[in-house]
Amino acid sequence: MNIFITGASSGIGEYVAYEYAKDGVHLALCARRKEKLDHTADKCKEMGAKVTTYSVDVTDQHSTKESIDDFLSKINRIDLVIANAGLGELDALHKGNPTMMNEVINVNVIGVQNTIVPFLPTMLKQGNGHIALVGSVASHIAWVGGGAYAASKFAVKALSESWRKTLPKTIDVTLICPGFVESEMTEKAEWKPFVIKTDVAAKKIVNALNKKKKMFIFPWQWHIVIAFKKILELLMVNAARKVYKKRYKS
Ligand SMILES: NC(=O)c1ccc[n+]([C@@H]2O[C@H](COP(=O)([O-])OP(=O)(O)OC[C@H]3O[C@@H](n4cnc5c(N)ncnc54)[C@H](OP(=O)(O)O)[C@@H]3O)[C@@H](O)[C@H]2O)c1
Repeated sequence: MNIFITGASSGIGEYVAYEYAKDGVHLALCARRKEKLDHTADKCKEMGAKVTTYSVDVTDQHSTKESIDDFLSKINRIDLVIANAGLGELDALHKGNPTMMNEVINVNVIGVQNTIVPFLPTMLKQGNGHIALVGSVASHIAWVGGGAYAASKFAVKALSESWRKTLPKTIDVTLICPGFVESEMTEKAEWKPFVIKTDVAAKKIVNALNKKKKMFIFPWQWHIVIAFKKILELLMVNAARKVYKKRYKS
């Protein structure tokens, strides 16, 4: 099995790599921080996987494509591509500077396109394959202070829905929608309802991918939140606004 994973230097991507790491699996692991990527790669190799690392910024279309072409030249088919690399930052609207918001959209949307689209001609030629996009519960709910992040994850959901309709049915498309998972991204967050451990999240993700689910929202509590989001928003938005204001009070 040949698998390409972005954002494998930490968090969800790192632990998903460990779940797949075994004999007969060739993993391509991507991220910018080489040392952390090498750490993931060494552990995956100890577990029996063949590993190729690419120290690459997914917002750079050219170098991402070069990494993909290199991986494709080493393998006879691509089985699974997981576009996981992502950036989660608050909007900081009160500072009046959209730079970080633009970066969030850039990594979370352009990065996903740069990761998946170059694989599609090969998948179409081989007649099958599996693409996974890491969205979020923010693909369903735009929360206080997280406009750019939600916009990016709504976009990822839209890409997954459109690609599923556009590509042959033999190419599976999975949208992964985690709630809060322990990782570098959530380290600073003061409020993490229903947070789960990274290794637990990775196991759940791989299980959903093995089942070729179209969309996987987890943990289960978020199904309820999403179903009743209008009522919950009314109840919770004021509390969330207070937390946001405290963080960005001028
Ligand atoms: N943790 C959560 O609660 C949660 C909830 C919902 C969705 N998610 C999504 O899950 C995914 C993984 O996040 P995480 O929680 O595991 O956070 P994380 O520990 O911060 O991991 C993010 C990964 O993305 C990589 N990355 C970021 N920008 C990149 C870029 N420009 N080019 C290449 N790689 C880049 C990082 O590596 P380098 O810095 O080394 O490049 C890192 O490996 C993201 O898409 C995130 O939006 C997370």
